[in-house]
Amino acid sequence: MSNEQEQIVESVQTPWETTGTVDYDKLVDRFGAQLIDENLIQRIEKITGKPAHPWLKRGLFYSHRDLNRILDAREKGKNFYLYTGRGPSSNSLHVGHLVPFMFTKYLQDAFQVPLVIQLTEDEKYLCSKKSLTLEDAHQLAYENAKDIIAAGFDPQRTFIFTDLDYMDKLYPMALQIERCVTMNQVRGIFGFTDDTNIGMVAYPSIQAAPSFSECFPFIFQEKNVHCLVPCAIDQDPFFRMTRDVAPRLGKKGLNKPAVIHSRFLPLFTGPKMSSSGNPEETIFVTDTPTDIETKIKKYMLTSRNSDEEHSQSGGDCETDVVFQYLKFFEFDEEKLENIRVDYSSGCLSREGIKDYLVEVIQKLVYTFLLTDSHLISRK
Ligand code: TYM
Repeated sequence: MSNEQEQIVESVQTPWETTGTVDYDKLVDRFGAQLIDENLIQRIEKITGKPAHPWLKRGLFYSHRDLNRILDAREKGKNFYLYTGRGPSSNSLHVGHLVPFMFTKYLQDAFQVPLVIQLTEDEKYLCSKKSLTLEDAHQLAYENAKDIIAAGFDPQRTFIFTDLDYMDKLYPMALQIERCVTMNQVRGIFGFTDDTNIGMVAYPSIQAAPSFSECFPFIFQEKNVHCLVPCAIDQDPFFRMTRDVAPRLGKKGLNKPAVIHSRFLPLFTGPKMSSSGNPEETIFVTDTPTDIETKIKKYMLTSRNSDEEHSQSGGDCETDVVFQYLKFFEFDEEKLENIRVDYSSGCLSREGIKDYLVEVIQKLVYTFLLTDSHLISRK
C-alpha cells in the first residue's frame, strides 16, 4: 500500500470499521465524488415536480457520483433503478440505518422507479469477529427485512433479497467483476491485509453485482439499465471499485452505477459512528418509548459540560449531538430554525432540547415505522 493509501485508510477507515473523526470534504476531494449543489437540487425538483427532501437541502445527503447522468437519462425518457442494502449484524436496524432507507423511499416515490435491496448475511458472517453462524446471519437478514419493509416502499416496485437466497443470479456477474479486480487493488481500496480471510477479499464483487440490471432479468426487459445507489459515505469504496470495472463488463461495457452519499448520524458521544454500535448509545427501531427516553437523557452528549456553561455560551449546534439528531429527524424547517436560534443563545436548555428530541424520535419510531404489519411481525 502506498503512503497516501495508508493515510486514507486510516482516516476514512474501511466499510467495516469506522473510528476517529470523519472528514467528509476530504473524502470528496481525494476520491473524486462531487458535492451536491443548489443547481443539482433544483434540477431534481424540476424533474420530479416535487420539493427536494430536507436532507438534500440541509446538506445531509451531500455528495454524489454521476447523479447528473441519471437525471439526463431520465429526461430522455430512459428508465433507471435504485439499489441499496443492509448487512444484518443485529436483530433490528438502528435509527442511523433508517437514513438511507428513508431517503430511498423519497427517491422511489419522487421518480416512481424500481428498487432492489440486498441483505448481505454472507458479508456479516465473513467479517464477524463474534461467532455468528451463517444460519443466524441468514435469520437476522429476515428480521431486518421486516424493519426495512416498514419504511413503506412500493411493494409493486421493490425486490428484497438475501445473498444466500439469490446467489445463482448474482454469481455470474460477481465472477465477471472478480476477474477484473486484482488483490493489489482491493488491498488499496478496502485495507485488506495478509490476515484477511479470502471470503472477505471476494465479497466486494457480491455487493457490486446488483449495480447491474443484468442480475434482475425478471424486472428489466431492456439491457444495461442505469442504477443509482443511495448509501452513507462508508459504502463508497464498494462503488468506486464497481465503477472502475463497469466499462470492462459484458461485451461492450456496462453503465457505471451513480451514487448519492449521506453523512453519518453520529454516535451519542461524538462525531463518530459504528455500525455495530454500543447498545446503550444506539437507538434501535424496536426500542420502547422508555428505552428511547432513557438513552437520550442519560447518554447523549451536549456541546457544553454544565447547565451554567450552556446558559453563558449557548449550545454549539455544529457539534452538539442532540441538535445533529434533530437536523436529521425534525423535518419542519421553521421549528428546526427556532430551536437552533433558541439553543445557540442558551434560551433553550440542555434538558429542554433533549425533551424535544425524545418526542421526535419516539414519534419517528412509533408512527413512521410501526405499521400494523410491522407490529404483528415483530411480536
Ligand atoms: P450496513 O448494514 O452497515 O448499513 C446499512 C446502510 O446504512 C448506512 N448507515 C448509516 N447511515 C447514516 N448514519 C449512520 N450512522 C449509518 N450507519 C450505517 C450504510 O451506509 C448503509 O447504506 N455492506 C452494507 C450492505 C449493502 C449495501 C449495499 C449498502 C449491500 N449492498 C448497497 C448500501 C448500498 C452494510 O453492511 O451496510
